[in-house]
Amino acid sequence: MSLQLLSPFVHHDMFGPMRNRVVMAAMTRGFADAQHRCTAEIAAYYARRAAAGVSLILTEGIVVHPSADGYRNVPHLQNDEQADSWIPAVRQVQEAGGRIVAQLWHCGRISHPDFTGGLAPVSSTDRPAAGINRQNGQPYGQPRALHASEMPGIYRLFEEAAQRALNAGFDGVQVHMGHGYLIDQFLDARINDRADAYGGSVENRCRIVLELVERLLPICGPRRLMIRLSPARMMGGLYEWPDLDDMLHHLIPRLDRLGLRQLDISCADAPYAETSGRIVRRVRPLWPHFLMGGASLSAAEAEREIQERHLDMVTWGRALLANPDFVRRLERGEALEPMTPERRAVLY
Ligand SMILES: Cc1cc2nc3c(=O)[nH]c(=O)nc-3n(C[C@H](O)[C@H](O)[C@H](O)COP(=O)(O)O)c2cc1C
Repeated sequence: MSLQLLSPFVHHDMFGPMRNRVVMAAMTRGFADAQHRCTAEIAAYYARRAAAGVSLILTEGIVVHPSADGYRNVPHLQNDEQADSWIPAVRQVQEAGGRIVAQLWHCGRISHPDFTGGLAPVSSTDRPAAGINRQNGQPYGQPRALHASEMPGIYRLFEEAAQRALNAGFDGVQVHMGHGYLIDQFLDARINDRADAYGGSVENRCRIVLELVERLLPICGPRRLMIRLSPARMMGGLYEWPDLDDMLHHLIPRLDRLGLRQLDISCADAPYAETSGRIVRRVRPLWPHFLMGGASLSAAEAEREIQERHLDMVTWGRALLANPDFVRRLERGEALEPMTPERRAVLY
């Protein structure tokens, strides 16, 4: 039986034809060099998956500026040297018939001055994130709430990083707006405790997303800009935006009106059906454009999401990490290697 999942397709909101609907989800790996650049090993890791049939690769989160970092050994896009370090990876993936999109990342308060050059992490709030930062075994750093007048400066970091990524040849950029990082810290009513134009009402909490998209669209164009949202996610338990329907009904039509055309709905961790699966069913009636999502779906489940028009493409994370030849295995109906801590600790 030929699956739509594995057949070539064209979507008018995308930058070009796709050989199938399999997407590698963004996955932080922590193998960048000391200058936060992409290496030959990272390029080979992505190229191997493209050569084995993955249609679209989302890179690991690439931090837009040192002040936005929160992790060890992750890549940055602060300067041209860091951007140019991706050229071999981009070229190898594209020569192997794949497409590659850079994920742009600002960690906000999910950080510590150890990772921001000694600066206080910035956020929507001055309340630190609960828990211990596994990157350095310390509590998350004391954040500094951004002043409204600083927002254009934050947008500028994304604008410059997006321009550098496109100059390096990436097929597009995806802005990470989920998983509790900076932009989600504004969206999330549990975290955002502001009393200015960026806090309080649904309209105010969504403002950062709409203003950022409005600035990035002229730089990227609608076919090269995607955002990733995680309105319901599994991260240390099931969580969803408290005012989910109001948020979606405010945000999604306005993104459409602004001209955004590509959306990735993430749940951070499986199971999809309890998280993103429910969200895409609420978003779809509001969003006639390109939509992708997923999390550890079987081929049959993914095919159903496509056939029923919930999703246009399907993302896999860990399965593609453990199985560079994931697409070939799907084509042959073969079993997958499980994800293990050993596989997570190496780049191959
Ligand atoms: C090792 C690892 C690193 C991840 N890093 C990121 C990241 O940098 N950006 C992001 O948006 N999601 C990240 N994720 C989430 C994945 O993109 C994906 O949504 C999640 O793993 C669920 O898909 P899966 O069940 O198919 O793995 C990461 C997941 C894993 C396992």
